[in-house]
Amino acid sequence: MYMTSSSVGESDQNVSKKNAGYYAAELVRDGMVVGLGTGSTVFYAMERLAEKIRDGMNIVGIPTSYQAECRAREYGIPLATLHDYTELDIAIDGADQIDPKGFLIKGRGAAQTQERCVAAASRLFVVVADVSKQTPSLSAPVPVEVIPSAASLAAKMLSAMGGTPVVREGVKKDGPVITDNGNWIIDCTFAEIPDPLALETDINNIPGVLSCGIFAEFTEKSKIVIGKKESAEIML
Ligand code: 5RP
Repeated sequence: MYMTSSSVGESDQNVSKKNAGYYAAELVRDGMVVGLGTGSTVFYAMERLAEKIRDGMNIVGIPTSYQAECRAREYGIPLATLHDYTELDIAIDGADQIDPKGFLIKGRGAAQTQERCVAAASRLFVVVADVSKQTPSLSAPVPVEVIPSAASLAAKMLSAMGGTPVVREGVKKDGPVITDNGNWIIDCTFAEIPDPLALETDINNIPGVLSCGIFAEFTEKSKIVIGKKESAEIML
């Protein structure tokens, strides 16, 4: 169990995220190469890692998105890329839904492709989330990164798999969201996802798709940290 001090006015959800992020940061040891995921919960882990760096700990971070890179730079975390390190000690990343087996839906931040690469390269994949992300079964729209020229084909193939695909638009509704890789995101809703691993594989095999947001392939090396208002604990 791990508890952080919370500031007055912080929402319960933010306190829970902070508890999860800070717990995960305690798993990082001196000299480690650390995958840095995207999202508000991981940013709390980075906040704690920055404190540890100021206290003398040496680590190298591998960011999973431009957003994660900018935040890590603000925190003074030394950075490198997957070109420099193809084996990471640990990756810390967030999730949008977590089922009881530890299968995830990720990608609200449109970063699931780099997140998958960093997770694949890491010996330990630590998922940080507040308690609201736990769900009996995966039901959120599955983000799918696709090269723009293949978006209609991918949408057709996703429909044939039983999904309802919608190209993600920016807040101003003036066109598709563009990922860090220059691609589009299709959010695909499924009435049910009985076999997340099979669906993950099928979607990732669609021509033109880089990666979907179902993460079921990493459970054997995953540690899932659930943050609550009072503390954080390991779910799996
Ligand atoms: C980005 C992600 C994020 O990790 C996920 O959306 C969770 O974000 P947050 O910690 O802000 O709730 O998958 O692609």
